[in-house]
Order: sequence, then C-alpha cells, then structure tokens
Amino acid sequence: MENNRAQWSSKIGFILAAAGSAVGLGNIWKFPGRAYEGGGGTFLVIYLAVVILLGIPLMMTELSIGRASQANIVGAFSKLGHKKCEWIGWIGVVGAFVITCYYSHVGGWVLRYVFGYLTDAPAIFADSTGYFYNMLGYHGDGTTSLPWVAMGFAAAFMAINAIVIIRGVESGVEKFNKVGMPALFLLLLILLVRAVTLPGSREGLRYMVTMDWGRVSFQTVLSALGQAFYSLSIGMAILITYGSYLSKKENIVKSTVIICLMDTLVAFLAGFIIVPAVFATVGRDQVGKGGGFAFVSLAKVFEQMPGSRVFGVLFYLLLLFAALTSCVSLIEGIVAFLTERFGWQRKGATIGVCVVMFLIGCLYTCTQAALPLKGIWVDAVGGVTYPAFCDFMEFFTDRLMIPLCALGCCIFAGWIWKPESVIAEITCEGVGFGWAGVYRVLIRYVAPLAILTILVMSFGAGVTLS
Ligand code: PHE
Repeated sequence: MENNRAQWSSKIGFILAAAGSAVGLGNIWKFPGRAYEGGGGTFLVIYLAVVILLGIPLMMTELSIGRASQANIVGAFSKLGHKKCEWIGWIGVVGAFVITCYYSHVGGWVLRYVFGYLTDAPAIFADSTGYFYNMLGYHGDGTTSLPWVAMGFAAAFMAINAIVIIRGVESGVEKFNKVGMPALFLLLLILLVRAVTLPGSREGLRYMVTMDWGRVSFQTVLSALGQAFYSLSIGMAILITYGSYLSKKENIVKSTVIICLMDTLVAFLAGFIIVPAVFATVGRDQVGKGGGFAFVSLAKVFEQMPGSRVFGVLFYLLLLFAALTSCVSLIEGIVAFLTERFGWQRKGATIGVCVVMFLIGCLYTCTQAALPLKGIWVDAVGGVTYPAFCDFMEFFTDRLMIPLCALGCCIFAGWIWKPESVIAEITCEGVGFGWAGVYRVLIRYVAPLAILTILVMSFGAGVTLS
C-alpha cells in the first residue's frame, strides 16, 4: 500500500505546491488590509515574529506527521497515536470542506473579474461598487436577483480545480504550480514597480515601514496570529497530506523555511503594492475594506494608472493563480482522505465532492446580497447572533476549525506522539536539526498556549480570526 502512494517527483515540485497552497486570497486580498489596520510597519514586525515562532514549528510538525504516517489527514493521527486522536484530522477535513465551499466561489468572482477587465473595463471604472454588487445580484435600483453570473464563474473555477486534481498529484498539482508560482511572482513584481512609482504613493510606503508601538494592542497580535495561520495553510491538515507525498530524503526544516519565506514575501509584496497604491489614488480610508476591497476599491487604483486595463487583467490573473493553487490543495486533502478511507475512486470522489462543495458555496455567493438567509453564532460578548450565512461560514472555519485543528496538532506532537518522534522524522536520513531543543519548547508550551488564547479571545471577546 505504502509503496503505491504518490510522491512528489522533485523537490522544487513539492516546495512550489506547498507554497502554492499557502499563497492565496489570504495573502493578496486580506493581508494588505490587515497590515494597514494593524499599524503598517509595526504589524509587519509582529507578523514576522508569529511566522517564525509559531508558523515554522507548526508547519514542520504537520509535514513530519504526514511523512511519518504516509497517511491521509485522519488516518495519520490513529496511525501514529491513537484512534481517539482522529478528531484532529476530522476537524481538518470539515474545515477544509467548508473553506473550499466559499473559497471556490471567491475564486469564481476573481475569474469573473479577469473577464470583466478584458471585455468590460469601462463599466467597472464607471461604477466599481455597482459592478461588484450587480455581480452578486444586488442592483442599483434596489431590486435583487440570484447571482447567476457569479455562480457560473464559480462553477468554471471549480471545474478547473477538479481537472487539476483528477490528473493526479504529480502531473496535475505539481505541473500546475511549476508554472503558476513563478508567474505569480513575476506579476507581483511588475505591479510593485507600478504601484511605488505612482505619484503620491510615498506616504503609503512610509506608513508601511513606520513603527508605532503605541498603537499595538493584544488584538493586533491576535490578528497577526490568525492571519499567519490562515495564510500558511496551517490548521487545515493540508500540510499533512502534502507531507505524506514527500520523500524521506527531503529536508523538512529547509523546505519549511523556504515555504514560509515565499508566503511571507508574497504577503509583504501585496502589502507594498496595495497600501501605497491606495494611498496614491483613492485615499487611505479606503484601505482594508474587507470583502469588497480587492474588487471595488482596487478598480479605482487601476483606473488612475496608465494602461489601467492591462494592470487590471494582470492583477486578477495573479489572484486567480493564487486562489487556484490554494483551492487545489484544499480539495486534494479532502480527496486523499475519501479515497483512502472509503476506497472511493479518485475521479468519482473528486467530481462528487466538487459538485457538493460548489452547491453549498452557492449559499455563500447568494447570501452576500441577494438572499437574506442567516446562520447562527454564539460568543461570550454578543451572545447568540444571526450573521448572514456567508459570514457564518467564515466564522465557523476561521474562528473555530483552524485554531482547533492547529491546537490539536500541537497537543498531538507535543504530548502524544512526542517532540522526539517529530525530531526523529525530521533527522531520519542524517539531516541536521540544530534547533531541536527550541522546537521542543515551542511545540509543547508556546504554540498551544498561544492558540488557546486565540480561541478564548474569539469566543470571549469576539475577535475575528482570519
Ligand atoms: N493559505 C490560503 C490563503 O492564504 C488559504 C488556505 C487555507 C489554503 C487553508 C489551504 C488551507 O489564501
């Protein structure tokens, strides 16, 4: 059985796939707004600290669990520990499932914008807010309709994902990432040059390198923590699946450092593109406006650039690459689980699960503006609330499933499978690991305590965690 398991055909293929999973809508769409809210330069420093202290050890842990167990995300925990530990993997699967439902739809919106800028740029520039809400089924005259166009593009986005997955981890995911990731870097660099040479961008640039420690609160640190986990794909057990395809010869420590570096670099690049560009064009109060930011406010940025349409198309292509590589990793984790656990065929499992996730995701797109369907949420401050169903889906994954699964991984590696086993897996082919002592302390005490704090704050103080 184990010999039949797919493996990455090259080191760079694995690194690109894992980096592709990490780099997604989170980095490019969410990070700049977070960095702005968190005080610019100060946030960048805190974020870096979180990546180094928590992100790196957790990523190494997940990759080691995957490689040592050679199993899917649920099987890994019973194989290395005990059947009772399988709940950690189940949380990962459920979280990945729900994230994919909405991630694929936001991916669809991005695809819609690629076409929008290609064929209809003047309409976007004329009324970017109207264009966005119109796509979501809310029209200027106050009427609503089901957002067929957005859902159609989401279906297309999901279909692309399914094709990549069906072609298999070596030929599909790996080849896709080999082209997608370098293309993404290239596009970012072009946009960076454009953004920082815009007249008026200097103030934004200065904001992104200024330290203002007086503004830092506990919430800033929490925001950086949540953003880092989401961004590095930690706490979804995706990395366990990807680690299970990794050869024993690979150096997990080195790969982890490279992946974290690439992910952080893309996030920072996006921050240094979007924040200065928005300062230079629409004004600083527009930065970080949540969901619509990447779609609505950015239109005004492109509009005020020479070659506006080209930059619009480039940006959304870039976001599309990033979203695809992340979405593929989410689906791969789920499909690997279904095929191994229930003996389903890869093709059937992929198509079945993608159709179901797309359909559930329709609720996400529809409840943005067109449908008044509510979810239910409970926290210590607000008590029972009824957020829009789309918000509920994000709360469920970002505030609950990701931190729970990450916490489970820490407890498992720190106290059940034991740090020594992780270290043994990391060093199995004579690979050196000079930081083993530091790792032990981080995974046993620092990481679980920090994550527990996030969870408690999420429910105790209503802090958003994504
Ligand atoms: N890391 C991805 C992003 O930044 C999202 C993601 C989360 C992907 C969890 C896989 C698993 O967009």
